[in-house]
Amino acid sequence: MFNLILFGPPGSGKGTQSEKIIAKYQTIHLSTGDLLRTEIAQETALGMEAKKIMAKGQLVPDEVVIGMISSCLDKNPQAKGFLFDGFPRTEAQAEALDKLMNLKKETINLFIALEVSEEEITGRLVKRGATSNRPDDSKPAIIAQRIKVYKTETESVADHYRKFGKVVMVSGEGDVEDIFERICKQIDSRL
Ligand code: AP5
Repeated sequence: MFNLILFGPPGSGKGTQSEKIIAKYQTIHLSTGDLLRTEIAQETALGMEAKKIMAKGQLVPDEVVIGMISSCLDKNPQAKGFLFDGFPRTEAQAEALDKLMNLKKETINLFIALEVSEEEITGRLVKRGATSNRPDDSKPAIIAQRIKVYKTETESVADHYRKFGKVVMVSGEGDVEDIFERICKQIDSRL
């Protein structure tokens, strides 16, 4: 099994690159943002609660996202590996993921952090906000809040994996294909 965490601030291209990675490496894509948006679309109780939090650019409680990831891991016993996108976002989530991986006698093989300037990510999200239905892209103040939450609550999660030598920084700026090539190089060197 090859388990990868694709990390980076909002708008750094995690979703865009994840699509390409799962197509090439046949791993299961676990995006907590997508899972939450599915709950919202289905108007579940969890979705209705998450909707309010996400629209403000805040993080959904750890136990909610950990529960979702745990159940997705259980549903895919034959997976060749998992690609975690947007998870873990807090130290508590990283510790919970360690426990879930240990239970499966698995590990996180690689942690790729996409590096993109604040100016570039803001520009990308404002642009997407003009056409997307994502409420968290709709106002510059909410985009700024998401970036602030990333800096204060999420960025330090990389340190958790740095201790184990799993972290690689990859530039997330420029052409999508060039970024993908840089990511593939890192994955291939560890397969
Ligand atoms: P989530 O859905 O994870 O969103 P995010 O991290 O804010 O990231 P985005 O999806 O906006 O960006 P991305 O990095 O995936 O980039 P993308 O490829 O889309 O989370 C949303 C919310 O859910 C959170 O705020 C929180 O409330 C909640 N949540 C989720 N996970 C949680 C967790 N674990 N714990 C607690 N709460 C959680 O690209 C962005 C745009 O840029 C697109 O328009 C794309 O076309 C464009 N683009 C991509 N690459 C390039 C490029 N190279 N050049 C130019 N444009 C590009």
